[in-house]
Amino acid sequence: QRTRVVIVGAGPAGLLLGRLLDRAGVDNIILERKSPDYVLSRIRAGVLEQGTADILDAAGVGARMRREGLVHDGVEIGFDGDKCRIDFDGLIGRHVIVYGQTEVTHDLMDARTAEGGPAIYEAEDVTLHDFDGAVPKVSYVKDGVTHEIACDYIAGCDGYHGVCRASVPASAIRSFERVYPFGWLGLLVDKPPVAEELIYAHHERGFALCSMRSPTRSRYYVQVALDEKVEDWSDDRFYDELRGRLDPEVAEAIQTGPALEKSIAPLRSFVAEPLRFGRLFLAGDAAHIVPPTGAKGLNLAATDVQYLADALIEHYGEKSDAGLDGYSAKALARIWKAERFSWWMTQLLHVFPETGEFGRRIQRAEFDYTASSERARAVLAENYTGLAL
Ligand code: FAD
Ligand code: DHB
Repeated sequence: QRTRVVIVGAGPAGLLLGRLLDRAGVDNIILERKSPDYVLSRIRAGVLEQGTADILDAAGVGARMRREGLVHDGVEIGFDGDKCRIDFDGLIGRHVIVYGQTEVTHDLMDARTAEGGPAIYEAEDVTLHDFDGAVPKVSYVKDGVTHEIACDYIAGCDGYHGVCRASVPASAIRSFERVYPFGWLGLLVDKPPVAEELIYAHHERGFALCSMRSPTRSRYYVQVALDEKVEDWSDDRFYDELRGRLDPEVAEAIQTGPALEKSIAPLRSFVAEPLRFGRLFLAGDAAHIVPPTGAKGLNLAATDVQYLADALIEHYGEKSDAGLDGYSAKALARIWKAERFSWWMTQLLHVFPETGEFGRRIQRAEFDYTASSERARAVLAENYTGLAL
């Protein structure tokens, strides 16, 4: 079997890349280790930058997002009971759209089934061959049978734990990493959100976030220590902890109900450099991880993929390799800015056990500065709604 581009991973990065290539007539095959239902059952990101929404529109998969997504013109940041609204629209004339990663993935899967190239799910033992040569190959096992696909390029869209980055010799890649000493415990519930906009809150007991998926479905998070186990968190214990970290009025208004999903995710900042190794390119979580505080993970995957798709389309259409040659540097420049913002939001809003009272006073000063300076709020708004492509 032969194709132009083998895409490893059918998360949002792989599916979006497949979609953009399909639309430009660049044939491609997606290989995914899990089943479609499994991929859709992962509850992850919830906020789309305005530019990500535009990418989905241009890819022809934005219709349901425009119908059902919630346009948010601002967020609230709370700090030990004080509040500050970041008015995206008033400050910079931009917004974000609340529309879950599950829905984005669903829309991309539907589009591929309707008019896209092949996607092979439950492909085991995906293995990369000869990506430093002229004809790379990718082999996989499906239903006990080994298959091999020859291609021009391999796109590693297989997430942080995927096989693509791991296939690169250690001497060819450099990684930069910061592991935070806490995680987020998240709970999804079919109850209306407590407020119209998201609330990010710093409290001495730890960070809390009130988010949503729809007018009837809420997503809440609390910062927890890394050794916490989700089994030890009953729904009641979760809601008590959440309420204890919020403004009493907000706490009072939270509508509780049985959790549809509850899980703990560790927080990490990570960047691999470079993002190209011969005929292998990395995009999305395979290339970088951000702590979720800035809501950047999914958005960054979308911009990487936009750059990579443009470069591949230019290669096949205009016979120019300029885009492919420039991909790594161009994507990394934007990635590091999103890394910086995610790190900044994380260090402002969480409790860091090791920084002591000095650290807390600095956080307080940072919050006060943001609340008092329109310029500081505009900087936050510009980063949160997404930097230019
Ligand atoms: P992924 O979504 O990870 O997709 C990679 C795909 O590759 C998966 O389907 C995987 O099964 C497949 N794969 C892996 N290995 C192989 C292999 N060897 N062979 C074939 N296929 C393979 N971001 C936010 O903004 N807010 C959040 O609240 C948030 N929560 C998160 C919670 C968790 C637990 C995680 C892991 C991430 C979270 N993120 C969040 C980040 C965001 O979801 C990711 O940035 C986004 O999913 C990146 O998309 P991706 O397609 O690059 O990677
Ligand atoms: C959600 C996740 C985030 O990381 C964030 O910053 C905002 C919202 C969410 O899952 O809804």
